Amino acid sequence: MDEVRRIIDKLCDTSVLTRDEIITLLENHNPEIQAGLADKASATSQKYYGKKVFLRGLIEFTNYCKNDCYYCGIRCGNKNVERYRLSKEDILECASKGYELGFRTIVLQGGEDQYYTDDLMVDIIKSIKKAHPDVAITLGIGEKSYESYKAFFEAGADRYLLRHETADFEHYAKLHPAYLSPANRQQCLYNLKEIGFQTGAGFMVGSPYQTIENIADDLLFLKKLDPEMVGIGPFIPHKDSVFKDMEAGGLDMTLYLLSIIRLMLPTVLLPATTALGTINPRGRELGILAGANVIMPNLSPVGVRQKYLLYDNKICTGDEAAECMRCLSGRMERIGFEIDHGRGDNIKFGNNAD
Ligand code: SAM
Ligand code: FES
Repeated sequence: MDEVRRIIDKLCDTSVLTRDEIITLLENHNPEIQAGLADKASATSQKYYGKKVFLRGLIEFTNYCKNDCYYCGIRCGNKNVERYRLSKEDILECASKGYELGFRTIVLQGGEDQYYTDDLMVDIIKSIKKAHPDVAITLGIGEKSYESYKAFFEAGADRYLLRHETADFEHYAKLHPAYLSPANRQQCLYNLKEIGFQTGAGFMVGSPYQTIENIADDLLFLKKLDPEMVGIGPFIPHKDSVFKDMEAGGLDMTLYLLSIIRLMLPTVLLPATTALGTINPRGRELGILAGANVIMPNLSPVGVRQKYLLYDNKICTGDEAAECMRCLSGRMERIGFEIDHGRGDNIKFGNNAD
């Protein structure tokens, strides 16, 4: 126990841990240590960002994907998905609706869909920026070339989310077909940072075959990359995926990792994800109390939400965006946090909290 206490003190003082220290911390996970760490993590988040929760309006604009990630509900091998694509006009309408509701970050997320050429993406990015110059645009559309990323950045995209999924190459091979390369995915992240994006990496908690050592390597990878955003959430099986019979990731381990990540990367923007809200009705509130500071309500048209199911039982697929906003504002207020209506940039990029 003394050793765990020493490790926690070191984490709080320096934000740096060795691989062995991370493993010891993960192996000794218990409710008391988790609660103590959550308090420290939340205090750290508040030191930089106050008692604010930043909003990102998520537009899931296509569920076509050329990849076949074994865990994912919209992978190309799933023939039971009804596929859809939003037009540029649909996307602009969602973005404008989000703007009216007070969103100042729009996240365009989708499968890797070659229908959306670089030129079309550039056009969409420029059109959103023209209509709403004060909105930040985040992209989450997978692995692209350096030139494509640069074109998106020059068109006005501000941020990019690309979870590294797992830092261990052998583990990566158990989650993905052989044509997907973890080295390329990691290189994409370095390219995004070099180009100037606020960059987000991350992984699923409790993904099939994940070990404590894998998680330690994920945390060390995050520390080395030093991203502006980190997305982690529990793995949840999807009924039509290769991993349909696998167990979901745990609430407590996800909360524990949110706290550790907050303390390792004190200024990071860290969402309490929809997946966390799916495995527990209070998952997002608990995530914020464990050191997260971002929520990502869905702005996709209600008509397509049931078609963007990465995992089973996804929440908020029936609610209008305005309803989601009301519900989440209430949830945040009840735990003593307030929704911030600014862009919510990472403090390293000049956070403009309201
Ligand atoms: N295609 C883009 C990409 O590759 O980054 C973005 C979409 S992808 C569906 C977004 C993230 O969803 C993935 O990075 C993965 O971590 C997460 N995800 C996929 N299937 C999941 C599942 N069954 N449970 C939890 N998270 C999942
Ligand atoms: Fe491409 Fe999931 S396999 S988005």
